[in-house]
Amino acid sequence: MQVRVLTLEEGKDLSQRTQHRVFPMKVLKVLAFVAILGISFCIASMYMTRYYGVLSVVSQARSSFHSCWEEPKGLSWWIRPPSGLMHNMSDEELFWHASMVPQVNKYPFKRVPKVAFMFLTIGPLPLSPLWENFFKGNEGLYSIYIHSLPNYKAEFPKSSVFYRRQIPSQVSEWGKMSMCDAERRLLSNALLDVSNEWFVLLSESCIPLYAFSITYQYLMRSRYSYVGAFDDPGPHGRGLYNPNMAPEVDISLWRKASQWFEVNRELAVVIIKDIKFYPKFKEFCKPNCYVDEHYFPTMLTIESPDRLANRSITWVDWSRGGAHPATFGKADITETFLKNIVEEQTCLYNGQKSNLCFLFARKFAPSALEPLLQLAPNLLGYGWQKT
Ligand SMILES: *[C@@H]1O[C@H](CO)[C@@H](O)[C@H](O)[C@H]1NC(C)=O
Ligand SMILES: *[C@@H]1O[C@H](CO)[C@@H](O)[C@H](O)[C@H]1NC(C)=O
Repeated sequence: MQVRVLTLEEGKDLSQRTQHRVFPMKVLKVLAFVAILGISFCIASMYMTRYYGVLSVVSQARSSFHSCWEEPKGLSWWIRPPSGLMHNMSDEELFWHASMVPQVNKYPFKRVPKVAFMFLTIGPLPLSPLWENFFKGNEGLYSIYIHSLPNYKAEFPKSSVFYRRQIPSQVSEWGKMSMCDAERRLLSNALLDVSNEWFVLLSESCIPLYAFSITYQYLMRSRYSYVGAFDDPGPHGRGLYNPNMAPEVDISLWRKASQWFEVNRELAVVIIKDIKFYPKFKEFCKPNCYVDEHYFPTMLTIESPDRLANRSITWVDWSRGGAHPATFGKADITETFLKNIVEEQTCLYNGQKSNLCFLFARKFAPSALEPLLQLAPNLLGYGWQKT
């Protein structure tokens, strides 16, 4: 208002020439005055909040001087995990984004480490009620990510731990690089949450073998990551090595294992940041070389051998022979069967002999759900009814 009145008054009485010279100067002065007034007002209101906590003044200042007032953002704002899991980043963008790693080895805030449970599925999760029981009461210590076929529409109720935990997915096929891509996609999405410390790859046929607290402690206290890595001299092992992979991959470091792994944050980053071995495996490990059984074990054996336990903690039964491990249904699930899985084992844990070797097991058919729900409270340690 003030500004417009002034210019009109002045312009009327001045000649054309002086108007050109003087008039802009006047306007500039007025504008400068208004700007200084605005800045002073901002500064004044900042001090007022700091010293007197006059909140109403701040909100007034905010609405009238948007440009110079920006709310200071705390560290929690910069590091908070994305509120939704959906995004449109390409894999290349996602992997790059997820590969950012803090270089200061001490967190300047209280960080409660979480376990990321990453479900690589075709569609539904038939054993989800078992998992719901497993997670119950442990909120804040885990996060869940699901990669399913892209056209699958998940329908979990709002109360479910699986509600809206689907990540942007693409078609992935067993034995092909698209399977490794899906696993890298799961890892990358989970890495975006700075609290995730362990990354567990699971399928829809996996079950947890112990209570959450035991699982959590086992992982958090582990010095090694759980990736199988076998040096098999036979035709299904070294026989699948292609000399074109040299010099990046030497046959002496060629490893194989099942794809189900449990890795810590450090190794998760090693996996998703790789651009050196990836093209070699993509080009030279094609069926019968199943890339999802060789890429991670071999690449990690070359890049981080000292971090590997060289075994997985996902139990599976190959004793029935054939190309696929046994699948267990309703009739198989007995007390003896479950006791055998959790009790009859020996392995090394942090270099010490241990009887606790497997935290998860596969493969379980949907029909196994009912007997598992019944036996889990006494035999596996989770799923007691609330009284
Ligand atoms: C994602 O969406 C943004 C905004 O709509 C767009 O600018 C960007 O190109 C998209 N990225 C991809 C990879 O589709
Ligand atoms: C796993 O194997 C690598 C070599 O392939 C070795 O360096 C490492 O020490 C092994 N890990 C354990 C825990 O024995």
